[in-house]
Amino acid sequence: MASRGRSNSLRFTAPTSRGTEPALAAELRSLGIHRVKEGPGCVWFHGGLAEAYKALLWSRVASRVLIELSRFQANHADALYAGVKAIDWGAHLGPDDLISVDFVGGSREIRHSGFGAVLTKDAICDALREATGRRPSVDTQDPDLRVHVYLNNAVATVSIDLAGRALHERGSAGRRTGEAPIKETLAAALLRMADWPRIARRGGAFVDPMCGSGTFPLEAAGMALGLAPNLERRHWGFHCWKGHDADLWAAAIGAARQARLDARGRSVSILGADRDAAVIDAALDNAAHLGLADVLTLDRRPLSACSPPKGADDIPRGLLIVNPPYGERLGADEDLGPLYAALGDAFRRRFLGWNCYVLTGNSQLARKVGLKASSRIPVWNGRIECRLLEYPIADAAPEKIGPGWRG
Ligand SMILES: C[S@@+](CC[C@H](N)C(=O)[O-])C[C@H]1O[C@@H](n2cnc3c(N)ncnc32)[C@H](O)[C@@H]1O
Repeated sequence: MASRGRSNSLRFTAPTSRGTEPALAAELRSLGIHRVKEGPGCVWFHGGLAEAYKALLWSRVASRVLIELSRFQANHADALYAGVKAIDWGAHLGPDDLISVDFVGGSREIRHSGFGAVLTKDAICDALREATGRRPSVDTQDPDLRVHVYLNNAVATVSIDLAGRALHERGSAGRRTGEAPIKETLAAALLRMADWPRIARRGGAFVDPMCGSGTFPLEAAGMALGLAPNLERRHWGFHCWKGHDADLWAAAIGAARQARLDARGRSVSILGADRDAAVIDAALDNAAHLGLADVLTLDRRPLSACSPPKGADDIPRGLLIVNPPYGERLGADEDLGPLYAALGDAFRRRFLGWNCYVLTGNSQLARKVGLKASSRIPVWNGRIECRLLEYPIADAAPEKIGPGWRG
């Protein structure tokens, strides 16, 4: 629908993990999307379809991009039904399409998301049946169009999910994972929070000494090379949407392909290590799927043997981010205290001048690092409330640093 493609006053919502809203807003601005506003667990932005397509292709932090169709008061179930039915659904989908409804939030009368989803589905089907004599069917697994409803403070926001599947699924092949992988979108947000784009521009190095299936190193490499994370994705939520603008999308794809060509031959200094051979194997596979196998080093090695990458003395000091086990999923039966103490030890002995970050959901274990964190940013890893702890390591050897630097 060309008119929608040209409109510059569309409203979009990009959901993200709680705590990462500022990182997503900054990322969208860096993509040239300026009318952004942080919300709880999301960032809203205004613009045209060009901005939405750019966010879909290039955002590493957003988990979806939703285009808003309507926002209305919905104090009661009847009001929700009427508000959804009033939308011109014929402009968005055909009567034989398969739909699915994601319903988030609720009200006193609509307490269950399942009830809200059924009301919404009925309203869409009734609207199309009255207009065409036919009605769409529901397919929650593989719909043609995914409708999203957010009901909060008696206001319903009805949108179409342009991503379809969550955007953390990079590329076309499913990635291999270890036991407690972090989502790619959260890893990318944390890399931004730790200033990786700027460090990478200066030629700094990156290390994750417990990289599991490689999420941090792979995101760090893609960011440093300026690659669009979703260029290889084959399934999009807008494929069957009547508002999709194929020319605009082709232009966005063309720009992302050109950026990939421009990145050829560019080098980055990135090391991911883990003591577990099986997860390093998975990380190598993931790197190969993303075309990054020759760009970074992924190595089976314990923390005790992990140092800055070779040649790091000649390049600006780098960034280390680590997501050690914290007892929730991995290592629940292990005494993880010595591992955290060993991390602190490694930082101050081998990563002088580096900025080191630990993501953990266990504050008692965090204390075992034995260094004073200069910042503690709350983020949610799924349902687990975590802290991203920052440890700027001074350039001098520990014995040359006065007392008080240990926390
Ligand atoms: C929470 S997982 C990291 C997950 C990773 N961020 C990902 O997305 O796949 C913690 C990792 O620490 C590794 N690990 C635990 N102790 C280690 C040690 N002493 N040296 C190196 N790796 C270690 C485990 O093998 C595991 O892969």
